[in-house]
Amino acid sequence: MADKHLDTILEESRRFSPPEQFTKDAHISSFAEYQKMYKKSIEDPQGFWDSVAKELHWYKKWDRVLDESGAPFYKWFVNGKTNITENCLDRHLNTATRNKAAIIWEGEPGEERVLTYWDLWYEVNKFAHALSRLGIKKGDRVAIYLPMIPELAVAMLACARVGAVHSVIFAGFSAESIRDRVLDSQARLVITADGGWRRGKVLPLKGIVDDGVKECDCVTDVIVIKRSPGEPFPCHFQEGRDHWYHDLMDVAFVPHQPEQVDSDDMLFLLYTSGTTGKPKGIIHTTGGYMVYTYHTTKHVFDLKAKDVYWCTADVGWVTGHSYIVYGPLANGATCVMYEGAPNTPDEGRFWKIVERYGVTVFYTAPTAIRAFMKWGDEWPKKYDLGSLRLLGTVGEPINPEAWMWYHEKIGNSRCPIVDTWWQTETGGILITPLPGATTTKPGSATFPYFGIDAAVLDGDSKETNAGLLAIRRPWPGMLHGIYGDPERYKATYWSKWDGMYFPGDGAKKDKDGYFWILGRVDDVVNVAGHRIGTAELESVFVEHKDVVESAVIGVAHDIKGQGLVAFVTLAGSVEGTPELQKELFQWVAKKIGKFALPEKIIFSADLPKTRSGKIMRRLLRDIAEGRALGNVTTLADASVVEELKNKYEEE
Ligand code: WTA
Repeated sequence: MADKHLDTILEESRRFSPPEQFTKDAHISSFAEYQKMYKKSIEDPQGFWDSVAKELHWYKKWDRVLDESGAPFYKWFVNGKTNITENCLDRHLNTATRNKAAIIWEGEPGEERVLTYWDLWYEVNKFAHALSRLGIKKGDRVAIYLPMIPELAVAMLACARVGAVHSVIFAGFSAESIRDRVLDSQARLVITADGGWRRGKVLPLKGIVDDGVKECDCVTDVIVIKRSPGEPFPCHFQEGRDHWYHDLMDVAFVPHQPEQVDSDDMLFLLYTSGTTGKPKGIIHTTGGYMVYTYHTTKHVFDLKAKDVYWCTADVGWVTGHSYIVYGPLANGATCVMYEGAPNTPDEGRFWKIVERYGVTVFYTAPTAIRAFMKWGDEWPKKYDLGSLRLLGTVGEPINPEAWMWYHEKIGNSRCPIVDTWWQTETGGILITPLPGATTTKPGSATFPYFGIDAAVLDGDSKETNAGLLAIRRPWPGMLHGIYGDPERYKATYWSKWDGMYFPGDGAKKDKDGYFWILGRVDDVVNVAGHRIGTAELESVFVEHKDVVESAVIGVAHDIKGQGLVAFVTLAGSVEGTPELQKELFQWVAKKIGKFALPEKIIFSADLPKTRSGKIMRRLLRDIAEGRALGNVTTLADASVVEELKNKYEEE
C-alpha cells in the first residue's frame, strides 16, 4: 500500500490555489499570513496559545501556559479552571447564537430534529442534574454506547458538566469489547439506547450492553435512551440498575452549574488500537484540548456564523469528539448529525442531506469518497450541492484520484479541500491546508498547523525526505497518557527520539516543504479509517480453541484503503473446513465487532518464520498482494511460503 501510494504521489504535479471567491472572506486569507502566524506560533508558542485561550471562558486564569517539568507528562494552562460546556453552551446564551441551531439531526428512517443552543443547554443541564442525582461526580468514568442521536452529544456534555470522564464506545463494538473497556476504565455508569438504526435494521444496543457488563461489578447503573417516540424496541430491564432516560429527565428544571474543573482534569478516555493485543485508553484532559479543538475548527474549516457544517464521522471515534461535538460547539456552529448509512435508502442519501440543509462545509473520509466514486456520478448529480464551499477529508492518506473526484464531482471544482492529518492521540488536526491560504496538491496534507513543529526524521532524529513523521514539541490538544499505564505512554510515543512525539506514521516531505503521509509504520492497519491492531486480532484468533497460531496483515483494498488478511494455523487434528472458517469470522465479530472482520481467513499448516521464530509478515504481504516474494534466505523453512503462496492463489 505504502509503496504504491508513494509512486502515485511522486508523480503528482497538479496544484490548486485557493479560489479568489473563497480567499476574499477567509479568516486566514493568504499564504503569507499563514507563514507569519506560523512563525509567531513556533517562536513563541506560549504567547500564541495564551492569546487563543483568552477567547474562551475560564473561571480562573492559568498561571502558566505550559509546564514541561514532568515531560512527557506535559501540562497546559496550568492551574486554569474552566468547564468545556461553559464554552460550548453557556457562553453562547447571551448572544445571537442562543436561538441558532446547534444540532440538526436526521435519523436513518428520515425523522428530523433541531436543537438550538438553548435547547442543547437545557437538555445538558437536565441530564447533568440527573447524573448527579445518581451520584456521578467529578472523576467518575461513564461509558457511552449510543447510536448517532443528539442524546449522544447531550450525554458527553452532561458528563463534562459534572466533571465526569466519558468513555464513548463506538456502537459497532461487540459485547466483549464493551466489557474490556468498561473494566479497564472501571466505569460506574453505562449510557445506551434501546436501539439505533443502521442500514434499515435496528441494532439491539441495550442487549449488547447487558451482555457486555455481565462481569463488570463496577457498573451500578445503566441509563437507556428510547431511540424513538412510541413503544421502545424490545429490551430487558434490570430492576435497580437500569433507568429510562426520559424518566430521569421528567423532573422540574433547575440549572445545573458546571463543575469548575482544572485544565489538567480528565475530560474523556477514548480507546484505540495499538501494537499489542490490548487497546489503549487515550487520556484527554480539559484545558489544552478545549483550546486546540476550538482554534483548529475555526481555522481549518474557516467557520463563519452562517455556516452549516457537517462532519460525517461517528462520534464513537475521535473525529466525532473533536469535530462534531467539542470544536464546532465551542465555535457556536450549526452541525448536521446523521444517524445511518450513506446508502440507505439509496446511494444519494448524503447529497440529499447536503441539499436539504444547505450544508456549506462537508468533512468525510477517503474510504467514503471511494465508495461514492464506485456508486457513480449520477447520485451527486441528482442534488443541488451549490451550498458547499469547503470540503475536508480525514482518516487515511487520500489517493489523488479520489481527491480529484471529490474536487470535481462534489466541489464542482470550486471548493478547496482540506486533507487533515491527525490521530486519536493528537486530539485535533496537526497537519492540514488552511483553505483560504494554502495551495493544495492532491494527496498531500500540506503544512503543519500553528504551534506544530512537524518533521520527517530518520531513526537518529536527522531530517530526511522520506522517513518517520515526528512532532518535535508538545501542543495543547495532545494526549495526557494511557489510562492506567504511564510506562506504555512513554514507551509508545516518546522513546523513539529524545523529547519528541512519534505518531507511528511514515511520511515524506517534498522540495516545496509539503508533507505527504504514507500510512502506519507499525502493526496497526487502517481499515476504512478505523485503526485495528494486527496483534489484537491475532490474539482473538489464538483465543479460539482450534487455533494455535495466527498472523494478520494489512493489504491494499480499493474502497477501504486497507483490508485485513488472516493466516491461521489450526491445532493438530483440526481440519480447516468452510464451516470452521465461517465460525472464525463470527468469532471476530463477537470478540471485537463486524467492522474488524478480515477479508480472508487462510488456513495454513505453518507460517513463514525466521530461524529465531519471528513471523515474517513481509512475505505474507507479498503473497497477499500477489508480488514476487522478497528475500527468503532468512527463513527457517523456505517450503512454507511456497506452499502458502500456492494455497493463497487457489483461494
Ligand atoms: C491515519 C483519526 C493520512 C494515520 C483522526 C494516523 C491519515 C491514523 C490522515 C489515526 C490523513 C488520519 N492522511 N493518514 N489526512 N488522517 N490518518 O486515531 O495513519 O483513528 O496515524 O484518528 O489515521 O487514526 P485515528
